[in-house]
Amino acid sequence: MRPLHSLEKRVLKTLGQVGEVDLEGLGQASKLSEDQVRRAVEWLQGKGFIRLNVMQNNLITIGCKGLEALKEGLPERRLIQLLKEGVKELSKLKSRFKGEQEFNAALGRARKRGWVKIVGGSLELLNEPTKLPEEVVLEKLGVEQKLGEEEWVADKVLQEGVNELLNRPNYLSRRVLKRVQISLTEQGKAALKSVVEEDVLDDLTPEMLTSGIWMQKRLRPIDVEAPAPPLYAGRKHPVQLFIDEVREIFISMGFEEIEGSLIQPCFWNFDALFTPQDHPAREMQDTFYIRGEAQNYADKESIKRVSATHKDGWRTGSRGWGYEWREDEAKRLVLRTHTTSITVRYLAEHKPKEARVFTVGRVFRNEKVTFKNLVEFHQIEGIAVGPKLTLRDLMGLLSTFYKRLGLEKVKFWPTFFPYTEPSIQSVVYYDKAGKWIELCGMGVFRPEVTLPFGVKSPVLAWGGGLERLVMMKYGVDDVRELYANRLSWLRRSPLCL
Ligand code: PHE
Repeated sequence: MRPLHSLEKRVLKTLGQVGEVDLEGLGQASKLSEDQVRRAVEWLQGKGFIRLNVMQNNLITIGCKGLEALKEGLPERRLIQLLKEGVKELSKLKSRFKGEQEFNAALGRARKRGWVKIVGGSLELLNEPTKLPEEVVLEKLGVEQKLGEEEWVADKVLQEGVNELLNRPNYLSRRVLKRVQISLTEQGKAALKSVVEEDVLDDLTPEMLTSGIWMQKRLRPIDVEAPAPPLYAGRKHPVQLFIDEVREIFISMGFEEIEGSLIQPCFWNFDALFTPQDHPAREMQDTFYIRGEAQNYADKESIKRVSATHKDGWRTGSRGWGYEWREDEAKRLVLRTHTTSITVRYLAEHKPKEARVFTVGRVFRNEKVTFKNLVEFHQIEGIAVGPKLTLRDLMGLLSTFYKRLGLEKVKFWPTFFPYTEPSIQSVVYYDKAGKWIELCGMGVFRPEVTLPFGVKSPVLAWGGGLERLVMMKYGVDDVRELYANRLSWLRRSPLCL
């Protein structure tokens, strides 16, 4: 047998002395704290050394009406008292009660039991009752607070009183008290015997070390597999953990992080990205507009060039969209619908010949919330700028990024975005679900996007949702779960996968 913990030994010994006992009694007799007793009892029960007997006790306690009657007397007793004082007229008597109902109940009881009779408009006292069983019960409860079933069932008067009072609302309340009685099993008795005989040290004190006594005794091994209560430490949200991971990866690939405002002028969210002013993505149904308009959002020259590019292509080699570009449309404020607004703004402001930047942040789209759509979600976005960069580099970059996230199988195919040419969509294979999942969109920024801001090198750009990756990682199939803040999920989601 494995040596027992000191708490277990203490509890075994106590049970050997006191026999069957409840948790509270065990605590008192063993001089252990409630928590220590609970732990020891759990361990000993697991080993089959003790037996827990759950006993139910039906208790009766006094209710609010009962308390009132205890102070002022039962209504029928008060009625008798008034008659003895000489108040006899029914109407006068009634006025001394809290209401018609209380008076009628008192009168009814007194008549039924033959204490009074009505003569004309008055009441006559026939005989005065001695102490009622109800009164005995109330008085007892007044002193003892509670009455156990075994007690009132054994006593005729108490039984009658309790039954009577239970018929009156709010006089008594019933409660079930569960008590656990703990006793030793045969195995437990045997274990107790060997505990009494053995000589094992539980703790190692400095005194034992200096005296050397520890060398002559056996030390109790520690059971490192014993169940322990789970500890939930404060921790980062799984989405935030994932964002940190994405950051690490991009930084390890030589990228620098940039940031931008959640509110953007349409100019940066759409116009600078050569998205026509009548594009469906700009409609109210899809996009959250904000009251007010942007001031000083870009320099005059850039605005002029973007305007000309939309109109006839300016000097980008494009024919443009062939309309008169409206600045009031570009000044409108939106909750950014994609983080491409941040990378294009970076391009315009820094005009780099070479650069590698990324951003992770929230975007907003006016969509119906479902298991796969949120109104507010995150995107991962980046650009790589360099005179010699090509589409192959872009696919290589994204493949490396996915690989570092543990996603090996990636596919690319052509698609369309207003601001890239060529444009590509990527999917990764998620083996746990056995399916291909759409991730980043990407491409090479069109000259209509780069040239108005004086950027001459090719710009590789990509962007896509973050939540899908988090869902894959944690095996979540409803995106709402990520933000439902269910403690059970938050606590259980592993820190390392
Ligand atoms: N902005 C696109 C989206 O929200 C993704 C994208 C970014 C596409 C950059 C091409 C280039 O889906």
